[in-house]
Amino acid sequence: MEKLKVLTIFGTRPEAIKMAPLVQELKRNDLFRCEVAITAQHRHMLDQVLSLFDIEADYDLDIMTDRQTLFDITGKALAGLKHVLEAAKPDLVLVHGDTTTTFAGALAAFYMKIKVGHVEAGLRTFNKWLPFPEEMNRKLTGSLADLHFSPTKTARQNLLREGVRADSIFVTGNTVIDALKTTVKKEFIFSTEILNHLDFNQRKIILVTAHRRENLGEPLKNICLGLMDIADRNPEAIIIYPVHLNPAVRDVVENMLGGHERIVLLPPLNTDEMHNLMARCYMVMTDSGGLQEEAPSLGKPVLVLRRETERPEAVKAGTVKVIGTDRRKVYEEASRLLCDRSEYNRMANAVNPYGDGRASCRIAGFILYHFGLTDEKPQEFEVQV
Ligand code: UD1
Ligand code: UDP
Repeated sequence: MEKLKVLTIFGTRPEAIKMAPLVQELKRNDLFRCEVAITAQHRHMLDQVLSLFDIEADYDLDIMTDRQTLFDITGKALAGLKHVLEAAKPDLVLVHGDTTTTFAGALAAFYMKIKVGHVEAGLRTFNKWLPFPEEMNRKLTGSLADLHFSPTKTARQNLLREGVRADSIFVTGNTVIDALKTTVKKEFIFSTEILNHLDFNQRKIILVTAHRRENLGEPLKNICLGLMDIADRNPEAIIIYPVHLNPAVRDVVENMLGGHERIVLLPPLNTDEMHNLMARCYMVMTDSGGLQEEAPSLGKPVLVLRRETERPEAVKAGTVKVIGTDRRKVYEEASRLLCDRSEYNRMANAVNPYGDGRASCRIAGFILYHFGLTDEKPQEFEVQV
């Protein structure tokens, strides 16, 4: 029987982490021929993930430049993907999430009249500018997609409200939880040596990441000031901040926080290190989408350094709080969790609204069902309460 040819297209760290389990699943299944195209919108941070999950790209556009603009990424990815699609001739293109690579990948496939499957479909803030440009990237990709793999029922509802056909949406859970299930270990030795010497029992380790475009400039400076206040006034706390390679992030963070005795700035961590650090830390402060999904399943409270989130499920469950980027708020909310045990316990419940580790398997199953290669429709993801 002819195999179904699926081309996965991605370009940044989070897309790679969330596509890796799906690529592995498709490669394991004899009914698929799976190829991988990377735009390399990220370079080092993408290669870290490919190497961890042992994935080799069949096509590599290598588009990243220092301080690239949205025009650079969109233009180069779109032009490059034309040639990739002409060579690969897939039956289906899979893109993930909300980056500019995602949108360019979906648009390129549409121009070539190739079906598009959108993984992590339907998340919305309903605010065009927050997150920027991700809200519109995700929405535009949704308009181009033929199959929508929604991680949660809320995401499905968002798509239905926009008029997307119900039979093209499938609720799968988020593949990030598939990845997390393979990386977090009871015994883990960090290759970043300093992390092996942290006293996770005696000290309160706060894991921080912040890098989003809408936080560049003043918001990021305010976040840094808030972090400094936390470290200055809470001697039991240690802040660990793996800093994104974007120079617009690094310059500010290193300038403002470098050298503080209770703030440790690190280069981007390998994903298995990141997940194991998260599993051991006291709490998380972040503007990342992925961390908002990972930390709740590990029972870690999350303070979101953004004004809005497209991931309301863990906020409803009480594990995540959206606090914005105001200096005082950053300090006060973190201090509350450091000092108020009952507030901490209230938030530190492990909840899994985002997945059960079987999202990739469901996506593969639904693709086969859609293309008529099986009569068996897989079961959708249901949150276990
Ligand atoms: C991108 C995505 C964002 C996602 C984030 C995940 C867009 C518009 N943004 O944002 O949705 O949350 O990735 O991290 O798609 N750089 C390096 N090496 C790397 C990666 C980045 O040096 O491996 C530097 C480069 O100078 C690059 C800059 O970071 O120009 C910004 O990268 P870019 O992909 O444009 O934006 P991100 O902020 O990473
Ligand atoms: N991550 C990582 N190393 C780091 C920081 C983050 O492996 O130093 C992982 C993190 O665990 C999550 C993903 O990268 O799976 C999130 O990526 P990022 O914050 O860059 O993007 P976002 O999720 O905000 O789009």
